[in-house]
Amino acid sequence: MRHFLAALKIIQTNKQVLNDMSFLFNDNIRKMTGYTPGFQPDSARAIKLNTNENPYPPAPGVFEALKSISASEFRKYPPSTWKDFRRVAADLHGLDPQQIVCGNGGDELLTMIVRCCCDTHRPLAYPTPTYSLYPELAHIQNCPIIEVPWGPGMSIPDSLANSGATLTIICNPNAPTGTIISPDEIGDFAASYSGVLLIDEAYVDFAEENCLGLLKRYENIAILRSFSKGYSLAGMRFGYIMTSHLIASALMKVKDSYNVNIATQKAAVAALLDQDYFLDNVARIKNERQRITLALRNLGFEITDSHTNFILAKIEEPEAKYIHDQLAERDIYIRYFNLDGLRDKLRISVGTPAENDELLNGMVEILGK
Ligand SMILES: Cc1ncc(COP(=O)(O)O)c(C=O)c1O
Repeated sequence: MRHFLAALKIIQTNKQVLNDMSFLFNDNIRKMTGYTPGFQPDSARAIKLNTNENPYPPAPGVFEALKSISASEFRKYPPSTWKDFRRVAADLHGLDPQQIVCGNGGDELLTMIVRCCCDTHRPLAYPTPTYSLYPELAHIQNCPIIEVPWGPGMSIPDSLANSGATLTIICNPNAPTGTIISPDEIGDFAASYSGVLLIDEAYVDFAEENCLGLLKRYENIAILRSFSKGYSLAGMRFGYIMTSHLIASALMKVKDSYNVNIATQKAAVAALLDQDYFLDNVARIKNERQRITLALRNLGFEITDSHTNFILAKIEEPEAKYIHDQLAERDIYIRYFNLDGLRDKLRISVGTPAENDELLNGMVEILGK
């Protein structure tokens, strides 16, 4: 008994030390809460419309590419400068391979550019509401944050060009609103802004226009693409930035030596090469986006046309959170943000026709229509 009590005392003392250890962490890390990723349900029959994944499988060539990886390729480090992907992407987009920088998902590239451009004297700016990861990256980098509400009709706010930020991120199409700004408006902004402008095009696969053409005119632009949406590779983690040689060379300095594993590099090349499969997939999602937008509007939701693979649906009664919880009880998951300007809205990813039917049936039941 004596030994047991002594052991208990040691455990308690250690626990106390551990609890108090937070003083070892940087102030900015201690104060921040961190990004909350969307819920990942365990159940195989769950209908998952909460993290904007693609409901269809990746291109068949992806599986062939993965099967073809040799033991020696697994054994060795992967190409550190993503040679094959850079070549294929440069051909597709009409760029020099050196203008392309790859990452372990778009999120890693966001981290890299914030590390390149921001510090305690170099702020990060972005219009709000937008992707809720941006402020967390700023907290990690300990840089000031300049948040400016979108201008009238979701335009670029007037004060953004003179905010004093060294890095501005414009998410286009924007998450979670699904709205888009024309390349001309973004080009005008780039011309009047003296910092680095990152255009986060994670959802551009589902839009009619993109900002690639601006790269030839503005040295201060970087464009981010993700393979988690149009290319159905969220699980592989891949994204890339297209930018000027100057910005690319800064990003190359901060990247991890071998930041994208061999399987992901092979899968990304195969996915990019099959443009027919990609475009078919995107078209199917856009059709379903149109169908659920109309159906939900008929049920009383207010929805601005989306240019992404999700919609943002506004409702006064019943509360958005209640609808979210009721759907979750039916194993249907959508996203509710407990954030200013978003508490009366629900973000719903576009699923397969069968998944979307289940969602609509659930909504009819909950709304009693
Ligand atoms: C606006 C936006 N940008 C970037 C990303 C990063 O995507 P990933 O890291 O999956 O490539 C996401 C992910 O959902 C996003 O919503």
